[in-house]
Amino acid sequence: MDELNRPTILMCPPDFYGIEYEINPWMSRSTPNDPARSRVQWLGLHDVLVTLGVDVRLMEPVKGLPDLVFTANAGLVWKDKVFLASFRHSARQGETPWDEVWFQTAGFETFLLPSQLNFEGAGDALFCGDTLYGGYLVRSDASAMQWLGTRMGCRVIPLQLVDDHFYHLDTCFCPLDAQTALYFPAAFDDYARRALSQIPNLIPVHPDEASRFACNAVVVGRHVVLNTGCPRLEADLSLHGFTPHSTPLDEFLKAGGSAKCLTLRLDGEEAAIWP
Ligand code: ARG
Repeated sequence: MDELNRPTILMCPPDFYGIEYEINPWMSRSTPNDPARSRVQWLGLHDVLVTLGVDVRLMEPVKGLPDLVFTANAGLVWKDKVFLASFRHSARQGETPWDEVWFQTAGFETFLLPSQLNFEGAGDALFCGDTLYGGYLVRSDASAMQWLGTRMGCRVIPLQLVDDHFYHLDTCFCPLDAQTALYFPAAFDDYARRALSQIPNLIPVHPDEASRFACNAVVVGRHVVLNTGCPRLEADLSLHGFTPHSTPLDEFLKAGGSAKCLTLRLDGEEAAIWP
């Protein structure tokens, strides 16, 4: 990867985004997205990130891969390496060869997990400090998280996801800095909630706002970009010294995604202290 001296994020334009299959409870082919609004909303997110100083890299959209727009799932980026996704649902498995080519062309070294393991990239694997938190059960496997921890030599805390509406970890958990994270308590079992309580500043998100994907936020320094309609969280963010930026993303909620899903940080998440 060439010099990353600004926050750098991968996005994929929504040219072929659509609700073509149903692999989570938000998706219904009878509630299609509006392609023109999808484009406007995607551009809105893109432009907020650019305004915040982000170097946005683009990957070419591919016809027949409507969820390729959700670059968070392409893989887990760690330094100059990427652990590529191994999607649970066949509908998304066609994305990985395209992701692999993109990363290799950009100069990353790519790795595949052992074939029996499902793993959905940064959608389910998020660093907070030097610990990797790994969401499992719905999409990724707990053993995929342990495999990653061994490769990276870091502590791994697997978190069981108990509500299909919050099927990826990034729908219910968002590290903001090494000591601070957002979370939606009801998406986790008791054990996971206890494990999360090790994070010193844990900000709970109200159920109404969790359903607007408030936790699916993009963090750029002390700035947090999220979907509109989350006033309680915006107030809490301000209290904790973060500046919220809301931008409408409801066309992507129809596929079960929002701001964070549409992005993949290529130079390390703000909250991560990589081992
Ligand atoms: N329709 C996509 C899926 O169900 C949405 C992916 C959202 N991505 C995320 N990182 N949460 O796989």
